[in-house]
Amino acid sequence: MIISIKELLNSENYGNKVNVKGWVRTKRGSKNVAFIALNDGSTINNIQIVVEVNEQNENILAKIHTGASISVDGELVKSEGKGQNVEINSIKIEILGESNPDEYPLQPKKHSLEFLREIAHLRFRTNTFGAISRIRHAMIFAVHSFFNERGFCNVHTPLITASDAEGAGEMFRVTTLPAKDAPTNEEGNVDFSNDFFGRETNLTVSGQLEAELAAMALSKVYTFGPTFRAENSNTTRHLAEFWMIEPEAAFYDINDNMDLAEDMLKYCVKYALDNCKEDIEFLSKRLQEEEKTKPQNERSQELIEKLNFVLENNFERVTYTEAIDILRNSKPNKKKKFQYIIDGWGADLQSEHERYLVEKHFKKPVILIDYPKEIKSFYMKQNDDGKTVRAMDILFPGIGEIVGGSQREENYDKLVTRMNEMGVPTKDMNWYLDTRKFGTVPHSGFGLGFERLMLFVTGMGNIRDVIPFPRTPKNAEF
Ligand code: 4AD
Ligand code: MG
Repeated sequence: MIISIKELLNSENYGNKVNVKGWVRTKRGSKNVAFIALNDGSTINNIQIVVEVNEQNENILAKIHTGASISVDGELVKSEGKGQNVEINSIKIEILGESNPDEYPLQPKKHSLEFLREIAHLRFRTNTFGAISRIRHAMIFAVHSFFNERGFCNVHTPLITASDAEGAGEMFRVTTLPAKDAPTNEEGNVDFSNDFFGRETNLTVSGQLEAELAAMALSKVYTFGPTFRAENSNTTRHLAEFWMIEPEAAFYDINDNMDLAEDMLKYCVKYALDNCKEDIEFLSKRLQEEEKTKPQNERSQELIEKLNFVLENNFERVTYTEAIDILRNSKPNKKKKFQYIIDGWGADLQSEHERYLVEKHFKKPVILIDYPKEIKSFYMKQNDDGKTVRAMDILFPGIGEIVGGSQREENYDKLVTRMNEMGVPTKDMNWYLDTRKFGTVPHSGFGLGFERLMLFVTGMGNIRDVIPFPRTPKNAEF
């Protein structure tokens, strides 16, 4: 059986004969003894291999460099050195895969995140990406565990779809038609009846509409899958391919929905603090080093403090109208420091406004509700004022929008009217409208951008660094 380095480091079975396998982080030592720091990704910590240099292993040792993979048979012993409890006295070392030190791009020193993005196939081997990868796994697990504990049923919604759930037209087409000389119809447009699915299809931007169908029978459901958006946003918070968690619950109103979202975020943050301590501590130190280069007033809160702060405070629930008043009278607005000046009701909020509300005004996470219907999707429940819809966006420090959701319009006539007003084709969406025809019920849901949650929990500043292989405009390598 393969024992992980994490297990070995926690073991007290001194004197046991063990085998350990992993990748060499560093090798140092003298003529007589060599020390190898070995890592297998099970933990941020390396195990130290102590090798007495002799005639048999001299040649092997000379070939062991940073990046090489090795297998070591040895004895687990109590370590005299500081920073570790155990180490391994090597009896036999075998090289599984050599690594040429002149070509291996990862040196035992700090590399920039930009450089690491260019070698995404190897960056898993750095402390930073090891930590992020393990936290990412823990957060996936926490999400499923949260919903499972609350009786939500996980449903898989399709990735290939003919509908545009958000109505924003930012979709990637899926086709098997030839790129050159695709068949056209009488009007000269591409004839999709000849395409694979016999119609125009895209990669999904959201699993919500299908999740709503399932909620109309199973009551509490959630999807957790990849979503694709062809929006040309080259920012630190946008990906063209990101993962989204979308719960949908029958009989939930907007308040139940807000409670659910707040509970979920707190559950995930607590899970990370309880289960990813070493990795978060490492990232916190890393972040503090980076913050030192910034002026005092631009430095962000220490990571663990920031995570605890979210756990300990209720999210502030504020209407869009109240938020606009706050923003209109704010210093950066009056002094024209915002890139987009807020001059009246109806304006769409930019990330600079969201962050002002969270970081400067309320100084805690904020849930904004009751947005103007013009800036929100067709499916949101219309309020009696005729102007606003029952939307809820959760805004987080350093991130801005982390969750977007709403109570849904369950009234058939109101929904169809709104779809027509917004130019959403009702013709192909009978399957969606049927839920409002047969036993419709009030219901609500939201979407959490998984990588935005990852940004928050890891304290990383760029979304490209919290997903193994980011997809962004003009970039689909690996
Ligand atoms: O606000 P959005 O567009 O809402 C929906 O898609 C709804 N169908 C959700 C629902 O009610 N079921 O997206 C939801 C969240 C955002 O709050 C943000 O966290 C994330 O998804 N998100 C992105 N994350 C990374 N890159 C992008 N391009 C993103 N666009 C949205
Ligand atoms: Mg949104």
